Amino acid sequence: MVPVLKDLVVPGKERPRFVFFGGKGGVGKSSIAAATAAWLAKNGYKTLLVSTDLQKSQNDILQQEIGGEETPVKGLENLKAINVDAKESIRKHQLEVMKKIESLKGNDWEIQFLKEHWEKNPILPCETASYNVFVEYLNSNSYDAIVFDTAPGGHNFEMIGYPWRHLSNLKRSILAKKEVADITGKVAEIELLEKMSEDNVRAIEKLNSDQTTYLLVLHPEMLPVYEAKRIQESLQPYGIKVKGIVLNEVLPEEHCTGEFFSKRRKLQEKYISLVKKEFPELEVGEVSMLETEVVGLEAVERVAEKLYG
Ligand SMILES: Nc1ncnc2c1ncn2[C@@H]1O[C@H](COP(=O)(O)OP(=O)(O)O)[C@@H](O)[C@H]1O
Ligand SMILES: [Mg+2]
Repeated sequence: MVPVLKDLVVPGKERPRFVFFGGKGGVGKSSIAAATAAWLAKNGYKTLLVSTDLQKSQNDILQQEIGGEETPVKGLENLKAINVDAKESIRKHQLEVMKKIESLKGNDWEIQFLKEHWEKNPILPCETASYNVFVEYLNSNSYDAIVFDTAPGGHNFEMIGYPWRHLSNLKRSILAKKEVADITGKVAEIELLEKMSEDNVRAIEKLNSDQTTYLLVLHPEMLPVYEAKRIQESLQPYGIKVKGIVLNEVLPEEHCTGEFFSKRRKLQEKYISLVKKEFPELEVGEVSMLETEVVGLEAVERVAEKLYG
């Protein structure tokens, strides 16, 4: 039996549940991410909505200022949201690295050198810093569910693929430094890089496990089947499986009475059946088009109700 969408986002035994939404810009990923996070929070799960979109769509959707720190969402007790901000991410990542350095066992002078070195050289461009925060959230145990709202375009894959790329860079770096360490006896930095590698290994394990749910958001028009197949293929090298599809902005049947809208609705129905036929292994959910934008908690909750009941 295909699991229903609700079961795919509800936290299981292993927590937190990680939920991602993929798809083209403008299909409703941010709206549906907000709806999912709000629905989870309403059902008693401690939930975090993480946005890495520089456009900060969640400020408009949730109608409040969401900062670079976890911010409580007004009106929903169990929900916090954060706009991951590059500068703030560098600071957070530095703190994590400092904690790791303090746990190393090397000589005092070597530890001191490492601290100064890493304070001066975060070796992180701004963008990469946000990806490190992403890895840290994948390894965090503070929530029952974490819903990610990613920026449009290739950003989604770039972020998801980061733990793999970072791990491969760290491994190369460790190899190079080992040669020097054999001569100089400076081993603390290698230990640090190994600790950082472990974070990525754990993040990858989570992305590849049932803890992670990746859902596609599509409009039931313009060849959504091809789009869905392409995204599935892009995720394959990472071992991430698409678990369900959300067809968004389906025209409500009761309002499609005139010729224009009934024609449009027929077109959508054609694509809805095609998606269901082509992806029998996936749960396909539908969200009808609201008469308003998805702005404010009330609209967000209406979307959630359509999707999860
Ligand atoms: N079911 C819906 N009904 C009405 N408007 C919607 C619906 N889903 C999304 N929208 C609107 O479509 C626009 C794009 O949605 P958004 O969630 O920002 O997409 P994305 O994050 O994929 O770029 C927004 O103005 C949003 O309010
Ligand atoms: Mg968006």
